[in-house]
Amino acid sequence: MPRVIQIFDTTLRDGEQSPGVNLCPEEKVEIARYLERLKVDVIEAGFPTTSAGDLQAIKMVVQTIKTPVIAALARTRQGDIDAAREALEGCKNPRIHTFIATSDIHLKYKLCKSREQVLEMAESSVKYARKFVEDIQFSAEDASRSDLDFLCRVIERVIKAGASVVNIPDTVGYQTPTQFGDLIRKIKEKVPATDKIMLSVHCHNDLGLALANSLAAVENGVGQVETTVNGIGERAGNTAVEELVMALATRADYYGNISSNIEKKEIYRTSRLVSKLTGMLVQPNKSIVGRNAFAHESGIHQDGVLKEKSTYEIMKPESIGIMNRAIVLGKHSGRHAFRVKLKEMGFEPSEKELEKLFIRVKELMDKKQILSEQEMEVIIEEELYRVPEFFKLSYFQIFTGNKFRPTATVGIEWNGKLVEEAACGEGPVDAIYRTIDRIIGLNTKLLDYSIKAVTGGKDALGEVNIRLTDKGVIISGRGISTDILEASAKAYINALNKIVKKRGGHYGDDRS
Ligand code: KIV
Ligand code: ZN
Repeated sequence: MPRVIQIFDTTLRDGEQSPGVNLCPEEKVEIARYLERLKVDVIEAGFPTTSAGDLQAIKMVVQTIKTPVIAALARTRQGDIDAAREALEGCKNPRIHTFIATSDIHLKYKLCKSREQVLEMAESSVKYARKFVEDIQFSAEDASRSDLDFLCRVIERVIKAGASVVNIPDTVGYQTPTQFGDLIRKIKEKVPATDKIMLSVHCHNDLGLALANSLAAVENGVGQVETTVNGIGERAGNTAVEELVMALATRADYYGNISSNIEKKEIYRTSRLVSKLTGMLVQPNKSIVGRNAFAHESGIHQDGVLKEKSTYEIMKPESIGIMNRAIVLGKHSGRHAFRVKLKEMGFEPSEKELEKLFIRVKELMDKKQILSEQEMEVIIEEELYRVPEFFKLSYFQIFTGNKFRPTATVGIEWNGKLVEEAACGEGPVDAIYRTIDRIIGLNTKLLDYSIKAVTGGKDALGEVNIRLTDKGVIISGRGISTDILEASAKAYINALNKIVKKRGGHYGDDRS
């Protein structure tokens, strides 16, 4: 019998709990749009009781997203469930996701509750949530370290109370695949009512076993797996959606008729967007979406792949949407050809957006004759999902060399005026950043700086990613250019614009 595993994506909730990730509502909506195109079945849009921003973000996701179920997380408290209900108002397919811990460790040290009290809280939260929506998911936090008999009692009670999905999290990523598979099998045996609902798993990657544990659960009959894009999430993260989906697809010979609804060609693009907006870079050797995932370095491998791809490639890069075709748009190509190309790539910008993109691409083609689709995607992302530009780089000039102290002059357009300054630094990037600081005066601290080429080749586009802290909050920035110093300046200004946006557009010089 064919089985389609439901993908419950929690990039916007557990993923957003990754240390240093801080998405604004507009960024969450953008990611939700990509998740819809990826065809996830459920989008967990947030935990509304935690902040007004999260509540607002879920409301905006509800207004934008048409097809997937939208879930909002709530503890077993009525106030949390009320917030989830409010966040999901007007949603076509709403799900309230309520949870409480069931392990003795959590009961004793965190909740300070008895097992009977937890049973009661689990049951009454599901009953309360059922007053507002039909689709209720219950998660037994730290299920994998809970006493099996007690866990089964909780599951029985919440199903009776009206839960439609019961989720078994391996909250601390402690399980091994055989153990976790056995746990699912035992739950199904001991609680026959699980046949009537959707059983789900949520695995953390503390021991690098999240994917293996999720697959073991699938083999033992769960119908839903919780995942995040690029595997981001609390601590070492969650099961990565791209890994789960490609494991099922690539090893169909082993998994048989088990599949997902995911549109695989959207995987790479979604991975890039999530990385860009969260500021969490994808490690080069990351399965499926890492830069090296389809790169062959050794001569023997290259030789093999040139002769026959299947010698060393078990998946095709095109299957996840990595297109390395060059864009054939000559200098004289018009807007129509450009729009057709964008449509082919899955983008349908408005007239105004098209115009901006067209000008940007033409400018680039003056410097660089051929653009790859990957490079084009990076530019589209940068142009279409731009934060409001309170500050805009007008120009920069740098005087540097191995015998001189680097000195930068920078001009920034700000409130319709050009503001210029100059400063020295330890290196050219430091000089540019110190000059920008002199102009703008935000008191931030640079945490990370990284640079990479979007594709191979000497004339590749350079992409700079930075993270900085603003009053304890971590903000990321990204800049793209054929010139790495320009990309560096843009990344810094991008992060500063995000800060001003987070401050509600108000800007006060931190020095005054
Ligand atoms: O890890 C966990 O247990 C969770 C639950 C809220 C599902 O994130
Ligand atoms: Zn989790």
